[in-house]
Amino acid sequence: MFAVSSPAASADPASVREELLAQARGLLHGERDAGANAANIAALIFHTLPDLNWAGFYWMKGGELVLGSFQGKPACVRIAVGKGVCGTAVERRATMLVPDVHAFPGHIACDSASNSEVVVPVMKEGRVLGVLDLDSPKLARFTEADARALEALVRIFVESTDLA
Ligand code: SME
Repeated sequence: MFAVSSPAASADPASVREELLAQARGLLHGERDAGANAANIAALIFHTLPDLNWAGFYWMKGGELVLGSFQGKPACVRIAVGKGVCGTAVERRATMLVPDVHAFPGHIACDSASNSEVVVPVMKEGRVLGVLDLDSPKLARFTEADARALEALVRIFVESTDLA
């Protein structure tokens, strides 16, 4: 049995990030199923990081991103490479930190509550398999430190999971 503990609202962001990575290692330990691990990571992020309205994965299928496991409101299902924040992260093979989504040309608004966003490519052996996407109703919710922690989280996920 694995218990996910929610940090206190007053917890400092660095401790919350460390707690997120520690809980991710525990949650994925002994399980390599991609669907199960992606679902649990999306739920862990959504219930650990404050001020999120969406957290989840899109996976590359047939040359485009297709919606995977997530927490939050129903979202756009397909995103072309190069489109929106997610498709741009795939095209550039780089993390996208967007403090104000309304200022990002081509941003795809799945939930009108979203104001800032961070997208981390999920890469294995040089191939982009998909992206991890987080949205917040707060402007500039995500910092460089958050981006580095989410990149570390994606590495834990990739190392602990059987991916195509
Ligand atoms: N905003 C994203 C689309 C996905 S939703 O945020 C869940 C984008 O511009 O790619």
